[in-house]
Amino acid sequence: MTDAVIRPYRPADHGAGRQLWVELIEQHRTLYDDPGYGGADPGSAFEEYLTRLDLAGVWVAEAPGAGVVGLVGLIVSEAGGRVEPVVVAARARGRGIGRALLAQVAEVARNRGLARLTVTPESRNVEALRCLHSAGYDVLSAIELTLDLRNAFDARQEGIDLHGLRYRS
Ligand SMILES: CC(C)(COP(=O)(O)OP(=O)(O)OC[C@H]1O[C@@H](n2cnc3c(N)ncnc32)[C@H](O)[C@@H]1OP(=O)(O)O)[C@@H](O)C(=O)NCCC(=O)NCCS
Repeated sequence: MTDAVIRPYRPADHGAGRQLWVELIEQHRTLYDDPGYGGADPGSAFEEYLTRLDLAGVWVAEAPGAGVVGLVGLIVSEAGGRVEPVVVAARARGRGIGRALLAQVAEVARNRGLARLTVTPESRNVEALRCLHSAGYDVLSAIELTLDLRNAFDARQEGIDLHGLRYRS
């Protein structure tokens, strides 16, 4: 159980939100050993994100003495609701903050009458998959497949079997 408070994002949270966005990009860089991913100013995508017309809400986690340490966003379109992104500062992970952010967004989605919420973690992001599974995301509803044109996906990564087929992750 976390002692962080989940509350709506405010303009004063901009710096912390931007930093969390950088951590999101860093996660991808680490997972794919791709230091150039996200460009020279990875936080700039946060400003673009905030202008999205389909952005229905953003909430942050504020921990006593540590400030804003997590962020979650809800995207709503005709297709339904989507969690994008959910991120907790590396220094505050493993304390239930991700779970609390996901609970907040699920409550808002229920109150809006949405039938489902989806989220698209990278298939090798085991940390995120574990957190999401434990938060109830246990339906495998769609899969994104990649034709690896530059041989960028390391064959040493653990693969995944689905319907008798082997996939690299
Ligand atoms: C994914 C992420 C948001 C999880 O946040 P968190 O605050 O560390 O997660 P929590 O502490 O709330 O953990 C929730 C559950 O996930 C499990 N979990 C989290 N990290 C784990 C890990 N590294 N290994 C095993 N289980 C893990 C916890 O055990 C917990 O399960 P439980 O409630 O059944 O005990 C965080 O790791 C993160 O920000 N990662 C980088 C950004 C990212 O990948 N976002 C997801 C994009 S879809």
